[in-house]
Amino acid sequence: YPPERIRNFSIIAHVDHGKSTLADRLLELTGTIKKGHGQPQYLDKLQVERERGITVKAQTATMFFRHKFQQHEATENENAPNFLLNLIDTPGHVDFSYEVSRSLAACQGVLLVVDAAQGVQAQTVANFYLAFESNLAIIPVINKIDQPTADPDRVKAQLKSLFDLDPNHALLTSAKTGQGLEHVLPSVIDRIPAPPGKCDSPLRMLLLDSYYDEYKGVICHVAVVDGALYKGDKIASSATGHVYEVSDIGIMHPELTPTGVLLTGQVGYIVSGMRSTNEARVGDTLHQAKSTVLPLPGFKPAKHMVFSGLYPADGSDFDALNHAIERLICNDASVSVTKETSTALGMGFRCGFLGLLHMDVFHQRLEQEYGAKVLSTIPTVPYIFEYSDGSKVQVQNPAALASNPGKSVTACWEPSVIATIILPCEYVGPVITLCSERRGDQLEYSFIESQRVLMKYQLPLREIVVDFYNELKSITSGYASFDYEDAEEGVEGKLELWRSTLQSKDFCLSSSKTEYMECNFSSNRFSGRFVTLSNQAINICICFRYLGSIHNIKLSVAEMRVLRWMSGFTFSNMIRNKHIREKVGVALVTNKIRESLLRWYGHVKRQPFDDPVRRVVVLNWPMLRKVEVYLKRLVKLDILLNGQAVDAMATIVHNLKAQRVGRELVDKLKKFIDRQMFEISIQAAIGSRIIARETISAMRKNVLSKCYGGDVTRKRKLLEKQKEGKKRMKRVGSVDVPQEAFHELLKVS
Ligand code: GTP
Repeated sequence: YPPERIRNFSIIAHVDHGKSTLADRLLELTGTIKKGHGQPQYLDKLQVERERGITVKAQTATMFFRHKFQQHEATENENAPNFLLNLIDTPGHVDFSYEVSRSLAACQGVLLVVDAAQGVQAQTVANFYLAFESNLAIIPVINKIDQPTADPDRVKAQLKSLFDLDPNHALLTSAKTGQGLEHVLPSVIDRIPAPPGKCDSPLRMLLLDSYYDEYKGVICHVAVVDGALYKGDKIASSATGHVYEVSDIGIMHPELTPTGVLLTGQVGYIVSGMRSTNEARVGDTLHQAKSTVLPLPGFKPAKHMVFSGLYPADGSDFDALNHAIERLICNDASVSVTKETSTALGMGFRCGFLGLLHMDVFHQRLEQEYGAKVLSTIPTVPYIFEYSDGSKVQVQNPAALASNPGKSVTACWEPSVIATIILPCEYVGPVITLCSERRGDQLEYSFIESQRVLMKYQLPLREIVVDFYNELKSITSGYASFDYEDAEEGVEGKLELWRSTLQSKDFCLSSSKTEYMECNFSSNRFSGRFVTLSNQAINICICFRYLGSIHNIKLSVAEMRVLRWMSGFTFSNMIRNKHIREKVGVALVTNKIRESLLRWYGHVKRQPFDDPVRRVVVLNWPMLRKVEVYLKRLVKLDILLNGQAVDAMATIVHNLKAQRVGRELVDKLKKFIDRQMFEISIQAAIGSRIIARETISAMRKNVLSKCYGGDVTRKRKLLEKQKEGKKRMKRVGSVDVPQEAFHELLKVS
């Protein structure tokens, strides 16, 4: 298949909007899998995916399809397929958006699936912008139209108002009944461009993903951007320079199907004797060993949001756990792993994850796929502490933070995120309360339709990693959807900038409609309500429309003030001139933003008015408020068992919450630690100050106490269960702590 007969596309959507089911139907429709055979959600292959009903790993499948409009080209067999389609099913949960962005690098277009009853949700917004910023063709698919509550017209209106997508171009489908599916693949062919690579250029191939197979070794998923690759070819990695011989090559149809060759534009797999993920680096460019090429852009490295210690449940299993982790990170390169030692738990690992669900899934896979029994410590986010001598440390493990370092802490930074929450308006009150309890600042509040609200909050990451989502779901009866993105890039510089330039400048803008944007910078705090928001792309889109609308109307005095203040600077000299840049606070308007703005013009097919970029910059101000500085307000909270600090249970908390968190931790531990032959004291302490305490009196717990008389086998079973439970205990000093205790501590925030 020449590139013009290839289409590479992804299916992206909010959780449960039907991506995997739609993928199944398309695989059936093209005869790639047999109808009614195999399991539903065919591409969700991992046990954890099946148990949880979620996609965790992006999966590729190659399909062959005959497109009818090519009738005149029919040769001997009119039904022979004339297109090769690579479909990538992606995860929907926010923790795995890194998988999505990687998958998009191999695609020229996406099917943006939206549930016809639920409408646009938070991850729909996030995924749209991932695709939009990658400049991909977007085909909206309104799925589940068979549901009684489906309202495709409402969803079309949302697509129009939020993303400016033409409602007439939306496909209506039911992946369940098969309705409307016949239009999906023809639309993919007609509306998604062919891969742009050059067949006659030297080979350039992007390494998309890799996993470890017991029999074949490391299997790499690759996208051939330019040139072609044959079995037996010698390839080299741009990252390491190592050379490999391709021993097997083929496509996923949907299982590994050897083809002996991969041509320009194809997505497939190769086996080449790589032994670990250190060699198979996701995002690497592979090329023919004898030629040199310019590497492809690759991917941003994964950003680890949560860190946790992993220890063997039984100390002697360290080697087994080491082996299991090594194997699993071959299949999940987004986890970072370093060895560490805990006085309480012995040798183990400090691992960085993309979020809490990611961490959970990693544990589950370690246990299910590799039989490893692990204990994990309280997850923590990466804090930065600055000391009086000017030194700074990033703390991924609270235990590493000395309680009394001999120098004073002058500042602490904690990472924060910009959260998008979409919800029916009757739940707004409780959600605002929840967000402010979690130290959130509202950045935006807008109606996406008469009964639904989109809110943006800046929240400390620590406040959302543990149980924010569950809480949000429960107070909104499951109707809220939630997504977040990292709010910081080069935190400190921006913070300084914000401090020095934006103080005491007030302005407000009123739009042509009803919204208001009022900003007020005073005494280092930023207050006011925004119409605009911090996601760069949404920001620009909304601002552009907004500015477009004010362009023709009479400006208010306040608006004039802002525009006058900004006038005199062109966009490019603002970027180049550091002095001016600081003066107008525009450092955040990078070329990348500018490019997406210009693409946006192309997208909406509107003429840019005079110098819109110049005016947009001011609306990026909220971006400057990236993190909150908690001067000396984060503290290390220790847990002591019989007077001995348990390093694996230490955590960092905000001073204001320390008392409550300490109390909760102590209460939880009391519930989970069984009575033992001696008295156990459980204490929470900040430095040498004890802030909470409980005591468990001495006595062995009798598991047979509730088993009056009765059957011997039942008693034996209970005793065996107790024995089994003991295996998963951790002896901390003299105290046995069950694994659940560690697990329960995770839930305290
Ligand atoms: P994640 O991978 O977790 O993000 O979910 P997903 O988007 O892949 O959704 P999935 O395909 O697993 O479908 C979620 C649920 O919706 C399943 O129970 C499907 O049976 C159901 N579903 C999918 N498509 C349709 C449809 O067209 N109509 C109806 N009524 N249900 C559907």
